[in-house]
Amino acid sequence: MNILVLGGGGREHAITWALAKSPRTDKLYVAPGNGGTAGIAENVAHLKVDDGQAVLAFARDHNIDLVVIGPEAPLVAGVADVLRAAGIPAFGPDAEGAQLEGSKTFSKRFMDDHGIPTARYDSFTALEPALAYLRELGAPIVVKADGLAAGKGVIVAETEADAEAAVHSCFDGAFGDAGSTVLIEEFLTGPECSLLAFVSGGKAHCMATAQDHKRAFDGDRGPNTGGMGVYSPVPIVEPDELASMYEIMEKAATATAEVFEHDYRGVLYGGFMLTPVGPKMLEFNARFGDPETQVVLPRLETDLVDIALAVAEGRPDDINLRWSEQWAVSVVLASDGYPGPYEKGKVILGIEEAEQLEGVTVFHAGTTTNYDDELVTAGGRVLNVTALGDSFEEARERAYEACDLINFEGKQYRTDIGKRAAEGRQAWN
Ligand code: AMP
Ligand code: GLY
Repeated sequence: MNILVLGGGGREHAITWALAKSPRTDKLYVAPGNGGTAGIAENVAHLKVDDGQAVLAFARDHNIDLVVIGPEAPLVAGVADVLRAAGIPAFGPDAEGAQLEGSKTFSKRFMDDHGIPTARYDSFTALEPALAYLRELGAPIVVKADGLAAGKGVIVAETEADAEAAVHSCFDGAFGDAGSTVLIEEFLTGPECSLLAFVSGGKAHCMATAQDHKRAFDGDRGPNTGGMGVYSPVPIVEPDELASMYEIMEKAATATAEVFEHDYRGVLYGGFMLTPVGPKMLEFNARFGDPETQVVLPRLETDLVDIALAVAEGRPDDINLRWSEQWAVSVVLASDGYPGPYEKGKVILGIEEAEQLEGVTVFHAGTTTNYDDELVTAGGRVLNVTALGDSFEEARERAYEACDLINFEGKQYRTDIGKRAAEGRQAWN
């Protein structure tokens, strides 16, 4: 089979790596890809991945049998709709389904309509009612821009003044059109846990749990980032919580079949908070998580091509997920300054040595090759150093051993990925 993957981050390297392992895969293309995908697939730098017609034309020219869509932007832009209408199997929901991520208001209504537990909220298009509502709820409180804001549109406000400022900045255009509708939400507490599911034909096949570390610095301090590290499974989730999370994902999948005009075919990402009264849904995403994918796929023993094609063709009963018993930990190596401004073009050394360690795979997030054919940094998050181990401790140790072997100027990373979870649930109290 010839397969095209859309996207160019660590998630897409992990997806491409998993697809490349399949005996069914002949030719793999990644658009735009990165320095890591270049080693296992053909990168297509010029393709406009948000343009359905351009993707369709490429797919036809290259006899593509399956398109796997990584990021949210092409999904929201309707790339899957165009491919499906032309008879090309696409892994990823159509534009309507992608609204579960593309519009927080749409997503919250979907949750309310189908009995999915979530934070109390209201949604506003004008300043005064928004301010009145937040005064009624009081701080701490959460302010969210409705649309896609590259992970930046959520402000957890400690004080009413901060919340008011956040509402003002949304309506003043800080997040562009994404902030013209504002959600104000009750503040929830508890550990967070991601549970992703393959969804097709109204059925959910849940993957393994994973937990991201959003803050830039050790001890969950500093600014929010796209994610600085992740592990799977999440040991602090109690069996009754996991059962409830599975039930919620299944309920959501059933609802997709009832509500959407076309079948939802892709990943549904459940971002849960494990509150004292049970798991609640913070958000849905319409795609694989980044960096969750970099620990979930290495633990997947089933052929990802078989799964992706079954999802894309609406054959959920053909999906049979098997998981490795091993633990996975992934540490993000970032550029100095990230998530603020940072320099690019720093030469990266030591990946081969790191990958010689047992269980270690290095996924590239922001890398490219320079004119001298050297691997260099090309983003804020540069590498996802993933290690498998027979215990949580072994996986963590291996990941950090590998991080020490890799070098580039300005390398920064958190040294406590998985530390709190290893200490147990009381570490969140
Ligand atoms: P989201 O993009 O909706 O997942 O929000 C980003 C982050 O903001 C989440 O991972 C949480 O850490 C935090 N957050 C979002 N909603 C809430 C909430 N209702 N209460 C507390 N924290 C929240
Ligand atoms: N890890 C968070 C996300 O993929 O949105």
